[in-house]
Amino acid sequence: MDFTWAEPFIQELRSLGFDEACERAVRTLRERVPHYSWVGIYLLEGEELVLGPWDGPAATEHVRIPVGKGICGLAAREKRTVIVDDVNQDPRYLACFPSTRSEIVVPLMTPQGRVLGEIDIDSDEPAAFGPDDQKLLEKIAETLAQIWERERS
Ligand code: SME
Repeated sequence: MDFTWAEPFIQELRSLGFDEACERAVRTLRERVPHYSWVGIYLLEGEELVLGPWDGPAATEHVRIPVGKGICGLAAREKRTVIVDDVNQDPRYLACFPSTRSEIVVPLMTPQGRVLGEIDIDSDEPAAFGPDDQKLLEKIAETLAQIWERERS
């Protein structure tokens, strides 16, 4: 995968406010990366993840997910990126779209380790997410968390 567009894109994100940066991130990731079928950002409200901006062919019914539920809730609880190569084999998976085969969830975290939310990406390809995807998405998640901190400090 060619991710050379990502560095200038991340620089561009830094000039935006948090809400706009999240919207731009979901749209750009979906446009740029063919194996990202659905891209959304959930934000943590109390003990629930609430769906914010998303881009994809259809809306998900999972607009609120308790921490600890599904792959999204797992990533928030464990404060780490979770990759599922075959969602049909993972009993923790909360199904959204029949076409989804694999998923990655990357938490947005402050330097102090507080989870603000997460980037959730579904792919219609099995095992679509590798180390390059993880690196890219963790960099974007870190940038969004920095923007959030900047806005609230
Ligand atoms: N599959 C997720 C739910 C959200 S949808 O993918 C948009 C999960 O298992 O938490």
